[in-house]
Amino acid sequence: MKLTSRSVSRAVLVSTMVTATAAASVLVASPASAATTLGASAAQSGRYFGTAVAAGKLGDSTYVNILNREFDMVTAENEMKMDATEPNPGQFSYGNADRIVNHARNQGKRVRGHALAWHQQQPGWMQNMSGSALRQAMLNHVTQVATYYRGKIHSWDVVNEAFADGNSGGRRDSNLQRTGNDWIEAAFRAARAADPGAKLCYNDYNTDNWSHAKTQGVYRMVQDFKSRGVPIDCVGFQAHFNSGNPVPNNYHTTLQNFANLGVDVQITELDIAGSGSSQADQFKGVTQACLAVSRCNGITVWGIRDSDSWRASDTPLLFDRNGNKKAAYNSVLAQLNS
Ligand code: XIL
Repeated sequence: MKLTSRSVSRAVLVSTMVTATAAASVLVASPASAATTLGASAAQSGRYFGTAVAAGKLGDSTYVNILNREFDMVTAENEMKMDATEPNPGQFSYGNADRIVNHARNQGKRVRGHALAWHQQQPGWMQNMSGSALRQAMLNHVTQVATYYRGKIHSWDVVNEAFADGNSGGRRDSNLQRTGNDWIEAAFRAARAADPGAKLCYNDYNTDNWSHAKTQGVYRMVQDFKSRGVPIDCVGFQAHFNSGNPVPNNYHTTLQNFANLGVDVQITELDIAGSGSSQADQFKGVTQACLAVSRCNGITVWGIRDSDSWRASDTPLLFDRNGNKKAAYNSVLAQLNS
């Protein structure tokens, strides 16, 4: 090939980029530069590492020290749910949610919004509604809350847990589902209009094993949304594991197949019942599965210390009740640095 001046300068540019990339990957690979916190080690590959936070614990110094040191993404454990943010129809309440969002942002951390529409933790007034009045109330809720937090949210769980457990692969029955099968896409469209900068996620549990009907059902919905231009950017995998629902061997396949639909995937509520090396190995497996999928852009654990967990007796988190790092912590950190 004859080299024109244009192709020469392009070749120089490309070789400069290759050199820069090689230098960057040497930096990342060097054990001497291994990061010492979950957030910093995840950031080496462009990912985040988050935790659920409860507003009521922001006065606990052990809790806040670990939060500030280790995590770079925050999810409100309950404070952004429908019952918390709209306790009375049309009357919005953001005090506790703002406490969490402000703490996170003041510390330079990002926020996952959780959750705009869900069959659980609805305010009492909504639980008794149905039909077009409920549809309208749900859409108004999505619009108001996403507008209030516009520009402050990295990703929103727009709809949470809308699929049924078991073998049907279909939707869960709920008051929201009974307003019509299009309630999920209507919620996503309202969220996009209210905050065009946030990534919009569908979030669910028991969707980790690729061969499960529920996983397949969610996959088909996302595939359908992408084919019809319904605005969806990500799928959240809650990842609440225990002996009855272990980390599946095909987890990487699940995450990769969803990513191949053109969405990001995120592990959004990770906790794994157990202790010691067996628990550490399972946390390692989940971390590995995410790292192996380029569109798996972050992991969030559902609390800080075991004693903060919604299922504390399972001791499912990375820090013990005294705030000490567990074997599971060390294995996640090592994996993120590998
Ligand atoms: C849980 C909280 O951790 C508890 O404090 C609360 O009592 C119930 O909800 N799936 C979700 C989360 O999407 O919002 C749930 O959080 C756990 C299961």
